[in-house]
Amino acid sequence: MAKSKTTFICSNCAHITTKWAGQCESCGAWNTLSEQTALASGPAASTSLGPARGRIVELSDLGSEDAPPPRHHAGIAELDRVLGGGLVTGSATLVGGDPGIGKSTLLLQAAASFAKAGLKTVYISGEEARAQVRMRAQRLGLGHAPVQLGAETNLRDILTTLDEEAPDLAIIDSVQTMWLDTVGSAPGSVAQVRACAHELTAFAKRRGISIILVGHVTKEGQIAGPRVVEHMVDTVLYFEGERGHQFRILRAVKNRFGPADEIGVFEMTGAGLDQVANPSALFLSQRGTPAPGSVVFSGIEGTRPVLVEFQALVAPSPHAQARRSVVGWDGGRLAMILAVLEARCAIPFAGLDVYLNVAGGMKVSEPAADLAVAVALLSAREDTALPAECVVFGELSLSGALRPVSQGENRLKEATKLGFTSAIVPPGGKLSGEHGVRLMPMADLATVVGEVFGAG
Ligand code: TYD
Ligand code: MG
Repeated sequence: MAKSKTTFICSNCAHITTKWAGQCESCGAWNTLSEQTALASGPAASTSLGPARGRIVELSDLGSEDAPPPRHHAGIAELDRVLGGGLVTGSATLVGGDPGIGKSTLLLQAAASFAKAGLKTVYISGEEARAQVRMRAQRLGLGHAPVQLGAETNLRDILTTLDEEAPDLAIIDSVQTMWLDTVGSAPGSVAQVRACAHELTAFAKRRGISIILVGHVTKEGQIAGPRVVEHMVDTVLYFEGERGHQFRILRAVKNRFGPADEIGVFEMTGAGLDQVANPSALFLSQRGTPAPGSVVFSGIEGTRPVLVEFQALVAPSPHAQARRSVVGWDGGRLAMILAVLEARCAIPFAGLDVYLNVAGGMKVSEPAADLAVAVALLSAREDTALPAECVVFGELSLSGALRPVSQGENRLKEATKLGFTSAIVPPGGKLSGEHGVRLMPMADLATVVGEVFGAG
């Protein structure tokens, strides 16, 4: 017996609850719950399946081999790598990011590349008219690419068109503008976004057509964020960057067909997005003479080492409560490192404003950057610059001890390539010495304070 049931879904984290509340009990976001009605009926809702038997599901050994999924290469190396080595046939990919960050530009360039590589490619824009997209394509020098362009928001019509045209790749820009006539709510609502993403993903699997969805992220969670779509698709890429910077980073946060955490680096120019093949050189290019507070961290993003510069500034605070401001790194982690410096090394930061910044608009989330942050803070506070050719990496424990991190050898090799000759590192870590960098292993943070800054 069919029974209508009302539930509420959070647009931020897709948590479902039976009672409305101002704040989501799962992620803590405010005003993100909205109503959705679902029919609780059929076998899933009843306790017994009844007499009807299903068909037998095919089972196989864990060891049996399947051919790797067929992939298509865009010929844009940064994009192909983030996808895990090219676009998988019949996969669904979500590209999320802030409005205006460059998603449409990236996907138009990708569409042109895939089309030139021989894929039948359809680009559906729900946000811009065809003339607008065409104008942008011409400005990007892609006017001759054999991409089929459509401007539509009615998903039923789009699916019929795709069914008829049978392309290899369909790009839907954006999922928030799409609507299905079977769903009562407005485009952009959680119910519509979920239903549209579900239809498109199911269609991709059924027809073996690769689908790329664009999704806008809004901090306020006013429109359904792509979060609700994340678990439906195979691959989730986020396009990020600071508004004032020209660098853009495409980051895989989920990939059923390749490593997550892989990044591709691009530069927004007057003629679209350019690939950045050597991000370390780019992130360090604007470094002048070594200044107090500046430290180069040798990080790993996905499968690739990337060198970035941390900049710290420590100044007496005119406020009753000193400021802590972070860009590109986790604020909670900064508080922890300040506490370790204070408790284990007797270096107080009370009454001092602390600013920490990752140069170039890069975001770092590795705990391996702990030591680099601590050294940047020390360097700023002691007003002492590190030698120009020194890199730093290592994880910090609450006791002040330094822990080895993964891929030490790769981090050092990348540093050598860029002309660095010494490194402050944790003890141990099985380094072969092939990298040619002079190592300064430090057991704990107090040793760093004493040996590098001659204080403590
Ligand atoms: P867009 O791709 O429309 O962003 P999104 O689809 O994520 O909303 O990019 C918009 C911004 O990119 C806009 O501010 C202008 C800038 N831009 C360039 O700087 N160069 C270019 O060649 C293009 C096409 C856009
Ligand atoms: Mg756009």
